[in-house]
Amino acid sequence: MPATKPPRRLVLAAAAASAASVAWPALASSRRTVLPSMTDGPFYPPRRWRARETDWDADLTRVQRGTQALVARGEHLALDALVVDAAGRVIDGAEVEIWQCDALAAYHHPDVNPASARTDPGFQGFGAAPSDAQGRVRFRTIRPVPYPGRTPHIHVKLRHAAFGEWTSQLFLAGDPGNERDFLWRQLGAPARAAAAMLLQPAGGDGLRWQTQHALVVPD
Ligand SMILES: [Fe+2]
Repeated sequence: MPATKPPRRLVLAAAAASAASVAWPALASSRRTVLPSMTDGPFYPPRRWRARETDWDADLTRVQRGTQALVARGEHLALDALVVDAAGRVIDGAEVEIWQCDALAAYHHPDVNPASARTDPGFQGFGAAPSDAQGRVRFRTIRPVPYPGRTPHIHVKLRHAAFGEWTSQLFLAGDPGNERDFLWRQLGAPARAAAAMLLQPAGGDGLRWQTQHALVVPD
């Protein structure tokens, strides 16, 4: 921990929620359960590998390769996230990263040989964006699919001076694969609730699903 921490901006959640274009449910004043802490796993794309590409934005469903504009296979999902700490304060300027396998259940990672794995070149695999002044960040991605031995999930990593680095995974609420998943089975009910996204049908702009999910980090 540095002797002098950089200034951090924490805004009262109630004020932020009223300003948000997405209608967030009122955040309770009681303490919130933090996302369960998890490891990077084997498929976190290394920075050096990512440096070779330029398209790592918050839209994982559209990939520009030279003059080619590719679109991801799978069911497109709008993931509206709110970065908030356990005390209910939203966090401005958190670095938020997500990564997941594509619709063919292949991760995009240097250790995955594209010659031996069927991959979807239209899926970005990894995306990053900062939370805004109200703690919000929106990703466009695909509804996660099962990966051999795993229930559908999206990896998430957050960084900010207020809490350092926090890594977790987001699951699909009610997915039948959850009860067979070794990581899900280790989680208690509050951690499951913190990590399970509730998907709702979406219309327009090629979206099939939408969700609003609070990414709760330690305070
Ligand atoms: Fe994974």
